[in-house]
Amino acid sequence: MNQYEIAVIPGDGIGKEVVPAAIRVIDTLTDIHGGLSFKWTSFPWSCEYYLEHGAMMPEDGIQTLRNFDQIFLGAVGMPNLVPDHVSLWGLLIKIRREMQQSINVRPAKLLNGLASPLRDPEPFDLIVVRENSEGEYSEIGGRMHSGSDEMAIQSAVFTRKGTERAMRYAFDLAKKRRQHVTSATKSNGISHSMPFWDDVFKDVLKDYPDIATTSNHIDALAAFFVMKPHVFDVIVASNLFGDILTDLGGAIMGSIGIAPAANLNVERTLPSMFEPVHGSAPDIAGKGVANPLGQIWTGKLMLDFMGYEDLGKLLLDAIEHVLVSGIKTRDLGGRATTEDVTSAVIEYLKSCG
Ligand code: NAD
Ligand code: IPM
Ligand code: MN
Repeated sequence: MNQYEIAVIPGDGIGKEVVPAAIRVIDTLTDIHGGLSFKWTSFPWSCEYYLEHGAMMPEDGIQTLRNFDQIFLGAVGMPNLVPDHVSLWGLLIKIRREMQQSINVRPAKLLNGLASPLRDPEPFDLIVVRENSEGEYSEIGGRMHSGSDEMAIQSAVFTRKGTERAMRYAFDLAKKRRQHVTSATKSNGISHSMPFWDDVFKDVLKDYPDIATTSNHIDALAAFFVMKPHVFDVIVASNLFGDILTDLGGAIMGSIGIAPAANLNVERTLPSMFEPVHGSAPDIAGKGVANPLGQIWTGKLMLDFMGYEDLGKLLLDAIEHVLVSGIKTRDLGGRATTEDVTSAVIEYLKSCG
């Protein structure tokens, strides 16, 4: 029996509702199939924790997390309590950086039983590989002057190492899929970082002669996500472009409430972190109506990364089964609660035994 130690950070808002739901589902799966179990240790780090302690996590929080195999996180942010840049940089972004989770993998796929807002979409199945540690998310810059001269400067940082790492991850992934990589660029308007991005892409693709490539400016690429998402296989994007594209990826599936994500420490020397694409959804928090499927699908990404792809597949099958049977939360046009959907997934897994 392999036992894994998982650090759990439900975080804020609906994170506190969908994380326990997904843990129940994963425990059901491991109980039935044996061979592995997860020991979950929960940490209350959140905006409420900040109001009490003056920090989003204790000073030795990162040290504590290093002892775990993986991290399972819900969402962070309660902008009415704590400014977002304080809460996110104090917890979510801090963990991504300190744990060197440099790649963020975010699939979007037309699932059985889901009504996409697109009209008659052809089946699509794409993965965005988002650079997760640098790019537009930098601390370099500042605010200066005042009055009518007031201004802010924000620098973006693109290293060859970080850019190449994201691109190589995308190419390696495409090798196992449909052999196509799209680069999200904007070298027509952004004069330094994006021409550099294009140059690195051209260098990397030489090592992958069997992979077909396309380069699209991010504005056109976003439009193609809506007009013809089926043409994409793997897309590699900078931190900010990848962020925006993946909410869109969730939307074209039917809801951002189902989109999963994995922040990977590809070297596997530090824990990776699994958290859905969506945020804490303050507008629906506490009502028991959040869609738990994004967090459950995120659990599949964790199982896959840990080498349990067979169990991961069962989780995605269960999600599709529940959607096909019409048990859907409000964001998908249904009336089911978080609990209804979670119990339906659990019942299905039990019935497959
Ligand atoms: P959001 O993703 O929280 O919500 C956007 C919309 O989608 C809302 O209408 C919400 O109700 C809906 N939604 C999201 N997840 C859903 C789910 N599982 N089921 C049903 N509906 C769902 O984005 P936002 O409103 O821009 O951000 C709210 C807070 O979350 C902010 O503090 C933001 O910074 C933070 N945030 C955190 C993360 C993260 O921790 N990974 C990600 C995105 C946003
Ligand atoms: C995400 C979120 C975060 C990001 C925010 C909350 C900092 O939008 O995980 O997609 O931009 O990375
Ligand atoms: Mn986002």
